[in-house]
Amino acid sequence: MGTTRTARLDDLDATRRFGARLAQTLDARDVILLSGDLGMGKTTLARAIIAKLCGVEDAPSPTYTLIQTYDCLAGGELWHADLYRIEEPSELDELGLDEAFDTAICLIEWPDRLGSNLPPDRIEIELAAASGGLESGREARITGYGRWEDKVEQI
Ligand SMILES: Nc1ncnc2c1ncn2[C@@H]1O[C@H](COP(=O)(O)OP(=O)(O)OP(=O)(O)O)[C@@H](O)[C@H]1O
Ligand SMILES: [Mg+2]
Repeated sequence: MGTTRTARLDDLDATRRFGARLAQTLDARDVILLSGDLGMGKTTLARAIIAKLCGVEDAPSPTYTLIQTYDCLAGGELWHADLYRIEEPSELDELGLDEAFDTAICLIEWPDRLGSNLPPDRIEIELAAASGGLESGREARITGYGRWEDKVEQI
């Protein structure tokens, strides 16, 4: 039922380094679900992954577009989604996420909107305030499912 580890992200730079390291382990069809409250750092982490894999600095948040797609430097696509504004599962149909799960690297903010429609092979990252409060950074809980179960320690 998934393997979990935690990582301390003491400051913005630690989050960026973590994203760059995680990016190097990713391949087509890898799906990363990013959860945590508003402002917890989901987009910040996604941006670091996009910078590394797609050479795009300061990627925009897909708050309103829901999805931004990028070409990876090594080939293939990366999809960055923010599902916060999705209210009904039927609204997901037109986004084309199911095809993307099968072909692209996918970074999904607010994945609770997917309901039970989760890809079996995935990494879930839950961001929360560090125990000393928001000023002392963030803590990431990283859980691997399916073929990620054995690989979580490598991130
Ligand atoms: N250690 C840290 N890791 C990530 N972000 C941090 C950290 N410390 C401070 N921050 C700040 O927290 C904010 C995180 O904002 P971000 O947009 O990434 O959050 P989000 O989880 O995507 O929010 P939303 O749910 O609104 O999409 C940024 O302003 C960032 O500078
Ligand atoms: Mg965000």
